[in-house]
Amino acid sequence: MMNQQMNEFVRKIEEELAIAIPSSQLNTNLEESMRYSLEAGSKRMRPLLLLVTLDMLTSNIAQGMRTAVALEMIHTYSLIHDDLPAMDNDDYRRGKLTNHKVYGDWKAILAGDALLTKAFEMISFDDQLTSDVKVRLIQRLSQASGHLGMVGGQVLDMESENKQIDLETLQQIHRAKTGALLEFAIMAAVDIAQPDKETAQVLEKYGQHLGLMFQIKDDLLDVFGDEAKLGKKVGSDVENNKSTYVSLLGEQGAKDKLNEEVERAYDSLHQINSQYDTSHLETIIEIFNHRNH
Ligand code: IPE
Ligand code: IPE
Ligand code: MG
Ligand code: MG
Ligand code: MG
Repeated sequence: MMNQQMNEFVRKIEEELAIAIPSSQLNTNLEESMRYSLEAGSKRMRPLLLLVTLDMLTSNIAQGMRTAVALEMIHTYSLIHDDLPAMDNDDYRRGKLTNHKVYGDWKAILAGDALLTKAFEMISFDDQLTSDVKVRLIQRLSQASGHLGMVGGQVLDMESENKQIDLETLQQIHRAKTGALLEFAIMAAVDIAQPDKETAQVLEKYGQHLGLMFQIKDDLLDVFGDEAKLGKKVGSDVENNKSTYVSLLGEQGAKDKLNEEVERAYDSLHQINSQYDTSHLETIIEIFNHRNH
């Protein structure tokens, strides 16, 4: 589904990630554990989304590369912690043992902490961006990752285990735990390229629908997916008695909601000024909708 240019973007992201964590001067293997989780195996959807959005707005992706890498670091940290025994207690991620299974719980916690911190270091040292843009990106990323964003969503997700919640609450969880970082990918490109207000607003809407559809699909894959393709265990949500779109609405109900969000994501793209070529952003909708991992 990905065309040559998108593959090229992913290749560049992989290249940057491979050199992002230099070896330790403290003589610990913390960096090894950080790299272990950052390595290939991820779909790199968040950094890719940032770069294709930026490419649509300016055709200059170099300015977004550091921020894209920083975003993938925060996403990876969120997964290391998400897999811990105190949270989802999963043994496999991205086709290999989870970080804590290899390095132990305390080092996995610290590897996550270090990736989170490194992300902000990366952006603050980026010499391709003005200080004003960097501050805006740091504000946005800290909000998307923190107690009102991803972390807040993770708290609600944990508190909703073994509990009946309504659809509105579930949507709020998904928007926060998963939507916030995906929306950041898009809005970071907006901060860098600074298009007109209308374009920014439409892209924000697109991001909201994209974020929700990504996690609805994740919920479906957790029940109906293929473990070998997913690289993580199927059935984790049922085991933890999580509240998900499938547990609340059943398979068909979840699929209907997914389709609704797909339609809304397309609708927002149709509102974008015709000077912009939205074909990559349309492809992203298709990838998110039809992915099997
Ligand atoms: C998994 O994210 C966690 C969610 C927020 C659903 P991805 O499906 O993007 O995982 P990777 O990065 O490709 O491994
Ligand atoms: C994780 O959601 C969202 C994060 C912020 C990490 P899940 O717990 O559903 O992600 P997977 O299924 O383990 O990848
Ligand atoms: Mg979880
Ligand atoms: Mg999980
Ligand atoms: Mg899941």
